[in-house]
Amino acid sequence: MTSQLYRLVYHSRNFISGTPEQVSVEVNKILESSQRNNLLIDVTGALIFNAGMFAQVLEGARNDLEATFERIQRDERHGEVEILAFDEASSRGFPSWSMGFVGHSCGDKELFTHIGEGSGFEAKRLEGEHVFRVMRDLAIAEETRAA
Ligand SMILES: Cc1cc2nc3c(=O)[nH]c(=O)nc-3n(C[C@H](O)[C@H](O)[C@H](O)COP(=O)(O)O)c2cc1C
Repeated sequence: MTSQLYRLVYHSRNFISGTPEQVSVEVNKILESSQRNNLLIDVTGALIFNAGMFAQVLEGARNDLEATFERIQRDERHGEVEILAFDEASSRGFPSWSMGFVGHSCGDKELFTHIGEGSGFEAKRLEGEHVFRVMRDLAIAEETRAA
């Protein structure tokens, strides 16, 4: 039996400091270990960041997401981690990415201006949905560009 698919969306404050090069070295390290670990447990997703924030979507079995997110939350390269959505999902938004990086495009401006606007459960749920959709659209655009 395959286990029910879940999707977790969160955002956090980026604590990586230094020159843009140093930041990108550190983000590449995050992506490398994410891809290595996520592949082993069939977790997929995408990560986006700017100077101030990260946002990430993780998809997979519930227990695998919980274990992965436990580690992520303890990581000192970011903080103020806030879950926007953690729900059952009918299909994966990033089926071919163990952890994709969608920060190359300019869409993050639109993404991050929405963050923190609303408060309360319903606002968070909508924000989670919004972050997921923007990141999935960026992933599709980048895959098309790479093809
Ligand atoms: C913003 C952010 C996103 C991360 N995403 C993942 C992830 O999807 N999967 C993962 O295994 N580790 C992720 N990490 C890294 C973990 O916090 C941790 O460093 C790593 O899992 C340790 O595994 P390793 O010892 O195999 O490198 C992330 C860290 C940060 C700061």
